Amino acid sequence: MAALELCGVPLRGPVLNGSGTFDAIAARRAFGDALFERFPFDAFVSKTITLEPRQGNPPPRLWETPAGMINSIGLPNKGLEGFLASDLPELAPLPVPLVVSVMGFSRDELAQLVAAVDDRDEVAMLELNVSCPNVETGLVMGADPAETALAVERVRSETAKPLVLKLTPNATDPAAVAAAAEGAGADAVSLVNTLKGMALDPETGDPWLGGRTGGVSGPAIRAIALEQVAAVASRVEIPVIGMGGIASGRQAADFMDAGATAVAIGTESFRDPAAGCRIAAELADLSLSRGTRPTSSTTV
Ligand SMILES: Cc1cc2nc3c(=O)[nH]c(=O)nc-3n(C[C@H](O)[C@H](O)[C@H](O)COP(=O)(O)O)c2cc1C
Repeated sequence: MAALELCGVPLRGPVLNGSGTFDAIAARRAFGDALFERFPFDAFVSKTITLEPRQGNPPPRLWETPAGMINSIGLPNKGLEGFLASDLPELAPLPVPLVVSVMGFSRDELAQLVAAVDDRDEVAMLELNVSCPNVETGLVMGADPAETALAVERVRSETAKPLVLKLTPNATDPAAVAAAAEGAGADAVSLVNTLKGMALDPETGDPWLGGRTGGVSGPAIRAIALEQVAAVASRVEIPVIGMGGIASGRQAADFMDAGATAVAIGTESFRDPAAGCRIAAELADLSLSRGTRPTSSTTV
């Protein structure tokens, strides 16, 4: 029996992965069927795909910070056709619902991606990653409420599947962006994506990362993410998926207390690929000890 429904999709629990932080295809090769028997997440979010294939940024791509990391991976992916032909058949047998994350560099590109993914029955939901600039306006789609509304309106008619809008924390007012997404027809919002950051090579003083700047993730951003989740959850009626530095059930419970319906684990999975299982178990224990069951019979 499903423990909760997220946008009408039954889930056995509230713990998802953050897009781009768990390679289920590589994990299947490494762990075989054991991965399916003990899959660490209650829904799987794909890494973000774009219309055309991308190489990603030049190395180095990672910098470890005292409480997390900065990545400048740059969204390497096979592009829409490559994803549909080779990745989707490998992700479809996962024992949990599949969410496909897409990013377009214009509203039409985003619509093309959404329409193509909508055709596939294996996909339960779509997540829109709007952390990139719109090449037509130069504005980061997800940093501006009006841009976000136009993007969601443009893609809404292309799919009846639930649409999750992934918010960037690099916005003046993420709650206003969330409200704009809700008004334009988004079914849920997820947050936070990474915060903009930089590291310098101590020898040369030049940027260390191949992409010059990158995205900060992990425990370093948790307090910021928690505040943004609380602000967004108090502004919108649609479900909120909270993430940003979650590494324990206690911390996941904080995000749910702040108004999240579900949580996602990102950087912690690099340290411990089974972190999703541990965090779900800790969260369940906490709910029992509190005498509450935040994940049972919850329909949103
Ligand atoms: C190496 C790496 C790759 C990521 N790739 C993506 C991506 O493809 N799409 C996306 O929307 N977010 C991506 N993210 C952001 C995560 O999904 C998540 O929003 C963020 O890392 C905050 O959660 P965390 O602190 O638990 O990692 C990536 C993060 C990391 C660290």
